[in-house]
Amino acid sequence: MNLKMAAKGKQILCVGLVCLDIINVIDTFPVEDTDTRCISQKWQRGGNASNSCTVLSLLGASCGFMGSLVPGRISDFITDDFRSRGVNISNIVCQRVGVNPCACCLVNITNGSRTVILSDMNLPNVTPEDFRKVDLSQYKWIHWEGRNGSEQVAMIQQVVQYNANVSVEQRITISVEIEKPREELYQLFGHGDVVFVSKDVARHFGFNSASEAVKGFYSRVKPGAHLICAWAEEGADTMGPNGLFHSNAFPPKKLVDTLGAGDTFNAAVIFELHNGKSIQEALTFGCQIAGKKCGFQGYDGIV
Ligand code: ADP
Ligand code: FRU
Repeated sequence: MNLKMAAKGKQILCVGLVCLDIINVIDTFPVEDTDTRCISQKWQRGGNASNSCTVLSLLGASCGFMGSLVPGRISDFITDDFRSRGVNISNIVCQRVGVNPCACCLVNITNGSRTVILSDMNLPNVTPEDFRKVDLSQYKWIHWEGRNGSEQVAMIQQVVQYNANVSVEQRITISVEIEKPREELYQLFGHGDVVFVSKDVARHFGFNSASEAVKGFYSRVKPGAHLICAWAEEGADTMGPNGLFHSNAFPPKKLVDTLGAGDTFNAAVIFELHNGKSIQEALTFGCQIAGKKCGFQGYDGIV
């Protein structure tokens, strides 16, 4: 892997969830079994991989999304929004069964907290067979949001095989995100050149900081990989072949909306590494862009 190599002309592909976020902006968190009004409500395209595409696109990267949708009104809203952002959706898999995932989100403008209830019931995930149809020569970087871990490892193996048969300049960098404390996702640690692990997973394993987490999980990643853990207002840490690095957070004047802060961070880190920046530069940029995002609703305004 050579992260320093600039990758002009090729896209970044993010594989994972797209859903509808119904965002209710509030200034006081509701008490259970009460009936209150929100300040505003809107539909927004959501899902980690999908949000990361929004941010990559805003940063000026050419990117694509791969995930599942079933045709209907929600799917139309989502695909229109992807198009309006210039995100390539030619690899979206159109399913015949299942319901599009939908999240009810409470975003509290008083402290920026986000509370999400996601309905992700029965829409089939993208499979290794679907992934076989991707023209890998179009990509310089592929990112997987951990979901169907075993099948995602099989997809990654297709990329590893592809990489073995092309020149060094054409190789695809692989990143993975392990966000949920789910056993099936932990196998992904060993399969990314860049591995993002969340503070939720870190806490689940008993780590109390990002530096503890990257040190504690490091034996699980493959040799030469960068392991990255973001920790909200504490910033982020990484451990890799050149050691341990940290970036402080860049808090906005006022915290307004932390929904998708992690997805923004991941996208900004990927963007920098994809453009040949160092791991410290990428970590700092990730915290800067994610911090800025927390100061306003949505994603417009990060650049
Ligand atoms: P997630 O959305 O996955 O919970 P995190 O909370 O770990 O993500 O945040 C990701 C990044 O976003 C952090 O590394 C930090 O740079 C930024 N961030 C998140 N919350 C805050 C905050 N309260 N103040 C400043 N930066 C924040
Ligand atoms: C933010 C997000 C939301 C979505 C939820 C799914 O990180 O992707 O857009 O509703 O997480 O878990």
